[in-house]
This record gives sequence, structure tokens and C-alpha cells, in this order.
Amino acid sequence: MTNTIDDVYQEFLSQMEEEAFLEPYREACRYIEQKLEKINIEYSEKLGRNFIGQTICRIKTPESCLNKMIKKKYIVKQQTAQEYLSDISGIRVICNFLDDIYRLAEILKADEKLEVIKTKDYVKKPKSSGYQSLHMIVLVPVDGAGKKRVEIQIRTQAMNLWAVVEHHFVYKKGDYEKHEFEKDLKECARAIYKIDKKMLVIREKMEAACKEM
Ligand code: GTP
Ligand code: MG
Repeated sequence: MTNTIDDVYQEFLSQMEEEAFLEPYREACRYIEQKLEKINIEYSEKLGRNFIGQTICRIKTPESCLNKMIKKKYIVKQQTAQEYLSDISGIRVICNFLDDIYRLAEILKADEKLEVIKTKDYVKKPKSSGYQSLHMIVLVPVDGAGKKRVEIQIRTQAMNLWAVVEHHFVYKKGDYEKHEFEKDLKECARAIYKIDKKMLVIREKMEAACKEM
């Protein structure tokens, strides 16, 4: 008897739920989360202001992995997912200011325990949707499981507001709805970039004023 597509998908979903499979990905997330906590304490002190506002960790759900495997036309197997999906472990880092995005990226790059294997700068070059964030794929050492990839998305509060709203209403839903809001969302993304730049200038002026006092 041959397996139907449904059998293959079902088997994949249950494989992707296995504890032994998931635990190293959770461990990799925790590793980055703890590192970020330490970085935040050190740099908030150094800079005299809050450096990292929030971190959000997530493990990609089996359903989301399956959808991506189908979308990207990969063979639907746990081993292939492990090989090709870079975002099974994901961490979003929210900063207050534009320059902090790059400050954090440099700190992570300089970390000897981490290996940055890919950087995508959607702040300098936003996606056609208007989406802005700095993405890094890093290799993290995991006890007994070699190295695991973690996708780190770094963005400002304002960029996050845009991405969360757009993700909910558009990104996951495909093209049809996209056209209805596309123009407004792009306008908002541009406005957000201007606000982020302006907030940075205000902060720099306030810092300079404080130094003179
Ligand atoms: P995915 O298949 O969606 O994971 O994209 P990718 O593997 O080509 O990588 P990319 O760096 O483009 O996007 C990775 C992640 O960034 C996505 O899973 C989303 O979380 C986020 N992202 C990328 N583009 C958009 C967008 O247009 N809108 C929103 N809201 N999020 C986005
Ligand atoms: Mg993704």
C-alpha cells in the first residue's frame, strides 16, 4: 500500500512534535534569551537608558513548518525541515531606537560563542510590503545536539507595531487582501521610518544637553 499525501503530512506533523526533536531548539532559544538578558543589563548600564525593550521567543509550530515546506517545495520530512528551515527557533528583539538595532547586531557578531551565518537588513532595504527589521541567522551551541540555527529579528517598537498588525491581517493570508491595504501600509511603514529617525535625533539632542549640564 502506498502512502497518500495526507499520510505523509500527518507523519511529518507528529515527527515535528517529538520532544527529542524540539528540545534542542528550545535550548537554543533559551541560550540566546539568556545572552540577551546579560547584554541588556550591561548595555543599559553603559548607555544610561533601557537598551532592549522586549524579547519574544517562539518555536515554529508543526503546522507552520508544514506550510513552509509545501510553499518552498521541499520534501516533507523531518530531516529536510531540520536542514532547510532556519527559523524553527525564533527570537524577536524590540529596541527603542534605530541605532540600537545595529548596536545589538554588532554585539552579537562579536560574540565568540555565536556564528552569524546570514544577515538580512530590511531596515536599510525594506521589503516591498514595507516590512522593516534586521534579521540574523545565528548558529548556537547546544549541549549534545551540535549547533542549532536561531532566527533573530531585531526591530524598533514602531516597526514591531507595523509588523504585528500587517502579519495578522495580510502576510499569512496571501495576495488578495494585500491589495486592499497595500498602499496605506506602505505609507505607514515610511512614516514609521521617519518617526524612528526623528526619535533618534531627539534622543541625541537630549543626551548632548544632559552632558552640558
Ligand atoms: P518566510 O518563508 O516567511 O519565513 O520568509 P523567508 O524564509 O524568505 O525569510 P524572510 O527573512 O523574508 O522572513 C522571515 C520572517 O520575517 C517571516 O517568517 C516573518 O516573521 C517576517 N517577515 C518577512 N516579511 C514580512 C512581511 O512582509 N510582513 C511581516 N509582518 N513579517 C514579515
Ligand atoms: Mg519565518
